[in-house]
Amino acid sequence: MQNNHHKEHLYKILVIGDLGVGKTSIIKRYVHHNFSPNYRATIGVDFALKVLNWDQETVRLQLWDIAGQERFGNMTRVYYREAMGAFIVFDVTRPASFDAVTKWKEDLDSKLTLANGKHVATVLLANKCDQGRDVLTNNGIKMEQFCQENGFVGWFETSAKENINIDEAANSFPVFKLG
Ligand code: GTP
Ligand code: MG
Repeated sequence: MQNNHHKEHLYKILVIGDLGVGKTSIIKRYVHHNFSPNYRATIGVDFALKVLNWDQETVRLQLWDIAGQERFGNMTRVYYREAMGAFIVFDVTRPASFDAVTKWKEDLDSKLTLANGKHVATVLLANKCDQGRDVLTNNGIKMEQFCQENGFVGWFETSAKENINIDEAANSFPVFKLG
């Protein structure tokens, strides 16, 4: 049905972070409502589309699922282009994947700036929280401080496996509500 007041929005959202942290699984949980324990590394980039209705407006979230191994390649500049927001994911059971978070953030901020000169809103996801809490995320204050110091708008403990905080994280982007 045609309706002159009905608006549609398309938002490109990046999902980045090291190999095997659960990027594909988070997207699969969010978009397709399922989970697989088997690991198949993403090659290059995959796409998923989530269609939402917000205040009678249609919002299409185009999720760019970028392979962890791409941090060492030359394509991220192309993949990041025109993104409106980003998730950077780490695996709470692997400290090295947390160390890589700042490297991903630097890569993102050095290659992508919004029209208003700002960096894209980025949310940090501490994934696989079903595996037990690590020392780091156990300390919420430390994580808040880390987010502030490194330019994240917020963070969530997530589990793609147990469906913890996946919808909450996706709904957290204030940038979605703009425009
Ligand atoms: P790349 O594509 O190589 O960059 O990896 P990825 O970040 O897309 O990781 P992927 O989603 O493929 O998940 C890697 C492995 O972790 C798989 O075996 C998943 O089943 C598992 N996994 C993902 N999320 C969770 C989670 O929340 N909890 C647990 N226990 N396992 C998870
Ligand atoms: Mg993947």
